Amino acid sequence: MTQSVVSLRNIRKTYGDYVAVENFSLEMHHGEIVCLLGPSGCGKTTTLRMVAGFVEPTGGAVLISGNDVTVAPPYRRDTGMVFQSYGLFPHMTVEQNIAFGLDNRKMEKAAKRRRVDEMLNLTELEAMRRRYPKELSGGQQQRVALARALAVRPAVLLLDEPFSNLDAQLRLRLREEMHSLIKRVNITTLFVTHDQEEALAIADKIVVMSKGAVEQTGTPSEIYDAPKTRFVAEFIGACNVVPARTDSSGQLVLDAELKLPFDAPVGDAVAMIRPEAIKLATGLDKEPVFKATVVSSSYLGYSYRTVIRIGSLNLLMDGRFPSEISPAPGASLSVTIDPRRVKILRPSEKQ
Ligand SMILES: Nc1ncnc2c1ncn2[C@@H]1O[C@H](COP(=O)(O)OP(=O)(O)O)[C@@H](O)[C@H]1O
Ligand SMILES: [Mg+2]
Repeated sequence: MTQSVVSLRNIRKTYGDYVAVENFSLEMHHGEIVCLLGPSGCGKTTTLRMVAGFVEPTGGAVLISGNDVTVAPPYRRDTGMVFQSYGLFPHMTVEQNIAFGLDNRKMEKAAKRRRVDEMLNLTELEAMRRRYPKELSGGQQQRVALARALAVRPAVLLLDEPFSNLDAQLRLRLREEMHSLIKRVNITTLFVTHDQEEALAIADKIVVMSKGAVEQTGTPSEIYDAPKTRFVAEFIGACNVVPARTDSSGQLVLDAELKLPFDAPVGDAVAMIRPEAIKLATGLDKEPVFKATVVSSSYLGYSYRTVIRIGSLNLLMDGRFPSEISPAPGASLSVTIDPRRVKILRPSEKQ
């Protein structure tokens, strides 16, 4: 097995009695993009700063490329960091900002110039090289911060909420640009966000955090399609969460009118169904079909978000409707649910 670029072993951080991060473990492989995702205050920045060296862990170990750097200062860690508010030096031009880390490393002049040019080219900032940060847009400042972090060719790139200072449209464009740039230079990247869509779009692996602890680590589709806890299910997109139990015939009972074949008995449990896993029946369905009544619906352009009633359960259903079927309140529908898309949730470690 190849060595991890970053290895976090049970790191924790406490401030007095307050536990900001506990028992956090993670292995990052070369070129992997990992996202720390969770609500504000859950410990994302603290974790990132323990990797960068700005916060010293209370316990555990941080290894980068196999070296234990748990107590090493930031400049000895082979990391490049982009701060939430970019942290550019206001009195330095774009190229001086980018060269900053190289100056610290006493790089030879010609090599330094080549590296700065390479970074300006990579981030398409050549025309801005003599400008000061205040003469740049938010997106351009972000690119300077990225170029500065990458200039030292770190083993790991660290990004703290890199898009949070940008407006919605620019955010989306820069997100795609940054993603393709990171993939092009194939740098191992750890980034922090509270935006689930951003995490799903960019990450190879997502670590969902709540109250300082890891709730679940997985690929975007594992996190979305098979969340392990209610917290993860509800944090990542819309979902139906329904108490359920297995009956004597082995079926999973969500309601007297909603029973599904299920591979394993679960006893008393909590089931999760994504809204798009409930589909209009076609008449040729292999999956079980249920009678439903429309409670309400909102037209979203591409599709409808509908609340339907099956037995005594109200469920969210997302999807398109053919023109002959109107999801008006009171309308009767036949829907199917694929039992493989029904997931059993377990309680969170931390309540
Ligand atoms: N220097 C500090 N002293 C005391 N508490 C802190 C300090 N830094 C962070 N915290 C607390 O630790 C928790 C996690 O903070 P942070 O990692 O910044 O969260 P996030 O980035 O997920 O929003 C918060 O409750 C925050 O108030
Ligand atoms: Mg933060």
